[in-house]
Amino acid sequence: MQSPSIKEIFISPEAFGGRMASLCGWVRTVRDSGAVLFIELSDGSTVKSLQLVGAEGISCFEELRRLNVGAAIRVEGELVLTPGGRQPVELRLSSANVEGASDPSYPLQKKRHTAEFLRTIGHLRPRTNLLGAAFRVRSEAAFAIHEFFHEKGFLYVHTPIITSSDAEGAGEMFRVTTLDARNPPQTDKGAVDFTRDFFGVPANLTVSGQLEAEAFALAFSKVYTFGPTFRAENSNTARHASEFWMIEPEMAFCGLDEDMRLAEEMTKHIISKVMRRCPHEIEFFSEFVDKGLLERLSHVIGSPFEHMTYTEAVTMLERHKERFLFPVYWGCDLQTEHERFLTEEVVGRPVFLTDYPNGIKAFYMRQNDDGKTVAAMDMLVPGVGELIGGSQREERFDTLRGRMAELGLSEETYSWYLDLRRYGGARHCGFGLGFERMIMYLTGVSNIRDVLPFPRTPGCMS
Ligand code: 4AD
Ligand code: MG
Repeated sequence: MQSPSIKEIFISPEAFGGRMASLCGWVRTVRDSGAVLFIELSDGSTVKSLQLVGAEGISCFEELRRLNVGAAIRVEGELVLTPGGRQPVELRLSSANVEGASDPSYPLQKKRHTAEFLRTIGHLRPRTNLLGAAFRVRSEAAFAIHEFFHEKGFLYVHTPIITSSDAEGAGEMFRVTTLDARNPPQTDKGAVDFTRDFFGVPANLTVSGQLEAEAFALAFSKVYTFGPTFRAENSNTARHASEFWMIEPEMAFCGLDEDMRLAEEMTKHIISKVMRRCPHEIEFFSEFVDKGLLERLSHVIGSPFEHMTYTEAVTMLERHKERFLFPVYWGCDLQTEHERFLTEEVVGRPVFLTDYPNGIKAFYMRQNDDGKTVAAMDMLVPGVGELIGGSQREERFDTLRGRMAELGLSEETYSWYLDLRRYGGARHCGFGLGFERMIMYLTGVSNIRDVLPFPRTPGCMS
């Protein structure tokens, strides 16, 4: 007997019509019309559930009739095509086993629950249509990313999660320590004595794998990391998480234009693979979450992304300054409202902003000849704002060293990073794609908490 997934059955019902099958899953609804039972079964493989039909007289009829929503069952029966029915196929039960009954207090009854409520039951919400679809898209998108870089000959490197550097220089790190928080050892000057900590130096969770990816790019030419990153920024927004995943390619012998071309090509690759492999999920999101989704994604694949310098963008924003909460002036860090205005209202599709003022960007970015800006690029997309941040890296030893001194970075901590410029340093570039923001873009889901399996945000570890 076959054991297809419900997804496989819905992909080609004709192939299964008339066949016996054995299926496992969770009960979504039970409807009892006296002599016949109708059960909606979900196995998590697709947004669709399969209707099971049980006629009075089958051995387990009474047991099935008492099932509550959420129960786990294993069933056998014949798959019967139902042309003209609500579904193309149903399963006529011949036997069933209850693997795990469900208590009537099961919180996911058949009605629409709010995203806020679902966040309070993080361990059960993957069983809903919305979160189920989001996590299937997440899984396919991750696969598409590996596929993209693999096809292009990139080496996948696992950069460390515990580090002693602050890759972004923003000081937003979670400390990793085994010191006693109530009574840490102290130096003569009264500071915490980290020489007596586990690693002998202050350590933290990484905010980005970039610096280590650079070391690998200067050995393997083309590399990428894809892993968790951590930021202790206290921004309680719908787009920031304290733990999120980032994809960071890094390429030696490469300039900013090539970097942007790769970012655009990767974005389009992810969208087209997810649209092809998750058609029912994208349809579901287009119907229930974001009506314009399908059209927008199709449009993005087919059109070139826009390019604009930061300076041009600020000039444009200044003309509409009455529309914004935050002030706009040359040198300001752009806020989400500014980024969204540019990509949604000015351009109407993804846009790269380049050449940002050096004062608002990280220490490692390459200084432009004007002495004011750096070779940075951010890719902004409608609905989300900043999806990608990248740059050409400063490969000139003296310039980098000078910049680090200006910003007060310890030469000792970053001596290995300077070494990369001392020994065969080459022009190189990379970027970081926020994986959750990509999933938000692919699904139209507006809160990052609803595309993270178990979100970690300030004050919340549900
Ligand atoms: O712009 P960011 O800070 O750039 C870097 O970390 C560079 N080291 C990347 C590189 O050049 N290799 O972060 C990159 C992307 C952002 O564009 C955004 O999509 C996402 O990571 N991101 C976040 N996503 C969720 N929650 C947060 N708190 C995020 N902070 C950044
Ligand atoms: Mg950024």
